[in-house]
Parts: sequence; structure tokens; C-alpha cells
Amino acid sequence: MIQGERPILITGSKGMLGNDLCSALKEAGANWIGVDLPEVDISDPSSIANVVKVEEPELIINTAAMTDVDGCESDHEKAYRANALGALNVARAASISKAFVVHLSTDYVFDGTKTSPYREDDPVNPLGIYGKTKAEGEKMLLSEAPDNSLIIRTQWLYGLHGKNFVESILNACKERDVLKVVDDQHGRPTFTEDLVKAILKLAKLRPTGVYHVANSGETTWHGFASAIVEIEGLCHIKVETLSTAELNRPAPRPLNSVLDLEKFQALTKSALPDWKDALTAYLKTRKLLKG
Ligand SMILES: NC(=O)c1ccc[n+]([C@@H]2O[C@H](COP(=O)([O-])OP(=O)(O)OC[C@H]3O[C@@H](n4cnc5c(N)ncnc54)[C@H](OP(=O)(O)O)[C@@H]3O)[C@@H](O)[C@H]2O)c1
Repeated sequence: MIQGERPILITGSKGMLGNDLCSALKEAGANWIGVDLPEVDISDPSSIANVVKVEEPELIINTAAMTDVDGCESDHEKAYRANALGALNVARAASISKAFVVHLSTDYVFDGTKTSPYREDDPVNPLGIYGKTKAEGEKMLLSEAPDNSLIIRTQWLYGLHGKNFVESILNACKERDVLKVVDDQHGRPTFTEDLVKAILKLAKLRPTGVYHVANSGETTWHGFASAIVEIEGLCHIKVETLSTAELNRPAPRPLNSVLDLEKFQALTKSALPDWKDALTAYLKTRKLLKG
């Protein structure tokens, strides 16, 4: 088990990752509490501090964030308060009960110009507001609690409890026979259930600093969409290519955000499954639960 007497506090517990983390802790018989908006707002220092005073957690896993990448471009203030100040507020609140903080961050802290996978110590240079505020949050957390925190950067998440790329593609397949999907952004699609196992593994080992965690292998959004269509047996759907420039979304995105996974693998002597195997497992579970 990863804990002693005191509870584990999950922030952002209603989100895609938070939901799966809470389920895993429940299944493991752990002592845990999940909090989310509107009851607990990490961008308000007293809101998160009050929970910590009452619950006295020994570990806080902060999954709360403003994750709408394009939405962040039109509301800088809200993004900064949730993603940057939120991380600082969690670190300060954690000191009340001397809790260790595991904080989730993103591949979007990188600019995507590197031609090989990004290592933990590569310089960050975010392109958009989401990445900028998440990078700011990392910096604040590390300076506030360098010996009591761990940052897990991950990427391209999908899971059973949230809006995500897999759901978008499956919905689009109900409406159209031809999909156009970006083929010049590279990353590692990651199943939240696999990420949860890795988070709990790291939370037990409690290394400090930054670790990258994602499913193994890499692809493009086009490759990801094609695999969804193939595994689901949707032979009539054609997946065509589109460039990032043609798609013209409000937020700029890194073209290469493949995260280097060696540091996690060396510490835990394990690796997350290949992304396509993980996707197959997800689609199987999804079918059982959602039909
Ligand atoms: N999704 C991805 O592809 C991805 C990739 C890389 C890294 N990450 C990181 O992984 C973590 C989890 O992501 P996710 O996809 O599970 O996100 P998510 O589904 O959007 O969940 C985040 C949760 O946090 C809540 N929240 C937002 N602002 C808050 C605040 N100020 N105080 C308390 N709770 C707040 C959200 O509530 P509302 O829904 O009401 O706003 C939501 O329930 C985040 O740190 C994210 O940056 C995600």
C-alpha cells in the first residue's frame, strides 16, 4: 500500500484522470478523499488549505487543471489561476499536514521543435497559454516544495470518464464516412488506467523532481484515429490527412511532443503497454460498459 494512517487527497476528482484514480484507490481499499469544483477550488488558497487542515492528508495527487487547450487562449486569467497559482496553492496547503505532492503536468510545456523524444531536463518553451500556465505551475511547485513534490508530465490522455480524442473520433464516425485528421503532430496516446497504475507506483517510491509517463510507442493523431477505426472494424470510414496549419485551431500545438520515458523505466524497472495494445484494451472495456 502507498499510505499509512492518513488519507490520500485527490484534487480534480471528477475529471477524466481523477475519476480513474479514485476508482483505483477505492478498489485497493485505500483511505482517500476526492475533491473538485465547486466545493474545492485550487485557485483559491484558503479553499484548498481548509480541506488539508480538516483531512490532514499525507499525500495529495493534484489532477485539477483547466485542460481546455483552446479555451485557455481566450481566458488567460482563469488558466493562470487554475494551472499556475493552483499548483502553488496545493504545495502551500500540503505543508500544513506535511503532505507529499504528486502534480500532473503536460507535454505542451515543450515547443515541439526537437527531433527526438523530450527528456525531463530539456528546456521548456511552451507555445500556448495552456502550456505556459502549466509550465509556470511546475516552476512554482518546484520552488515551493522541492523536497516534497513530484511532477508527472504525461500526454494525449483518453479514458472512460471525460471528453477525449477517442470519443470524438467514435462520435464523428456516427456522422461522417470521411474524417480528416492531423498527421504532423507526434505523441504517445495514453490510457488513463495505465497512467493511474504508474502514478500509484511513483507515489509509493516518492522520487522528487520531474518524471515523464506515457504509454509506449508513438504515432500521430492520424495514426491514432486510423487505429481506432481499424480496431472497431469500421471499414467504411476513410481517414484522410490534414496539417496542423490547415486545421488552424486557436492554440498552437507542438509538432513533436513525444516524451522520453527512460527515467520512469529505470526507476520502476517497468514500462507502460504499447499505445495500440492499450487502445485495444480501452475499446474492449468501453464496449462492455457503454455498449
Ligand atoms: N487530457 C490530456 O490529454 C492531458 C495531457 C497531458 C496532461 N494532462 C494533465 O493531467 C491532469 C488531468 O487531466 P484530465 O484530462 O483528467 O483533466 P479534466 O478531465 O479536465 O479534469 C480536471 C478536473 O479539474 C477540475 N478543475 C478545474 N479547475 C479547477 C480548480 N480551480 N479547482 C479544482 N478543480 C478544478 C475540472 O473541473 P471542471 O471540469 O468543472 O473545470 C475537472 O473536474 C491535468 O493536470 C492535465 O493538465 C492532461
